[in-house]
Amino acid sequence: MKRVAVLTSGGDAAGMNAAIRAVVRAGVAHGWAVVGIRDGYAGLCRGEALHLGPRDVGGIIDRGGTILGTSRYEELKTHLGQEEAIRSLRALEIDALVVIGGNGSQRGAHSLSKRGVHVIGIASTIDNDLPGADVSIGATTAVGIALESIDRLRVTASSHNRAFLIEVMGRDCGYLALMAGIAGGAEAILIPEVELKPEELAGEIRRCYDRNKRHAIVVVAEGAAYNADAVSRYFHEHHERLGFELRVTKLGHVQRGGTPCAFDRIIASQLGAAAIDQLQAGVHGVLLGFRNGGILPLALEAAVEQVKTPDLRLLRLAATLAQ
Ligand code: F6P
Repeated sequence: MKRVAVLTSGGDAAGMNAAIRAVVRAGVAHGWAVVGIRDGYAGLCRGEALHLGPRDVGGIIDRGGTILGTSRYEELKTHLGQEEAIRSLRALEIDALVVIGGNGSQRGAHSLSKRGVHVIGIASTIDNDLPGADVSIGATTAVGIALESIDRLRVTASSHNRAFLIEVMGRDCGYLALMAGIAGGAEAILIPEVELKPEELAGEIRRCYDRNKRHAIVVVAEGAAYNADAVSRYFHEHHERLGFELRVTKLGHVQRGGTPCAFDRIIASQLGAAAIDQLQAGVHGVLLGFRNGGILPLALEAAVEQVKTPDLRLLRLAATLAQ
């Protein structure tokens, strides 16, 4: 019987458990033995594995995080780390590996694939910065969590006639900020892909008040040239001249928790099962992502080389709709 291992790596994302469940159940249905690796690549190198049957993944589809645990394992970037992982896969008699994770995790998957390991990647990151996936597992739930906070902050902002800035995650990608900003009716959105200086932002907020708005909601991505700290410092220093304050909320890791939304569970289930289908068909070295309304593979090589940019037309739309 062939053995497939599954691991989750990098930042956890809501829906990872649904993907694990699908790998296990689709794997067993196709006659594979499935092994779960604890704590990502770090656990793999330590040989921490457990057999997973259909009942072991019962009742997890609605749970955030990952039952397998995850880690960021810098050593996998090195020759020695990769050797260690390959040695461990051999010792565990693993024929194929499924890696559920984001950018860094798929780079690791690619490096193992280049060394002959049969790897399938599954696009899963709240940052949604992976080429090959229109939307990765976890991103939609994270947008929903950010949105809930924005909606609440708008209530108090309107009551007090205030400006609020909400910083969301996303690393170097503005997707989360853009989506949460559009859905939350933000007056301004700051993302890494398009620079907006604090002085320009102050102008935007001033014009909101001039249009008799009772609040101004600014959503900023953590990777923006001027993030929450930088903008906040500027507004503090120029408070007298600007004539208004800016209250700041950083959402941070809150966005990674929570119950996976229906969409994340659905794509995660499809992606996990598709990983087994690909292995059955003898395909490996690819990243699977939800793209063009279905599940599509992209060579890991291309996935790690390309850079994904969010749809910047949405930034202009947000400005138009903030009138
Ligand atoms: O990659 C997911 C992510 O949540 C990013 O948005 C964020 O920059 C980073 O992980 C935080 O990493 P850590 O959990 O290691 O602090």
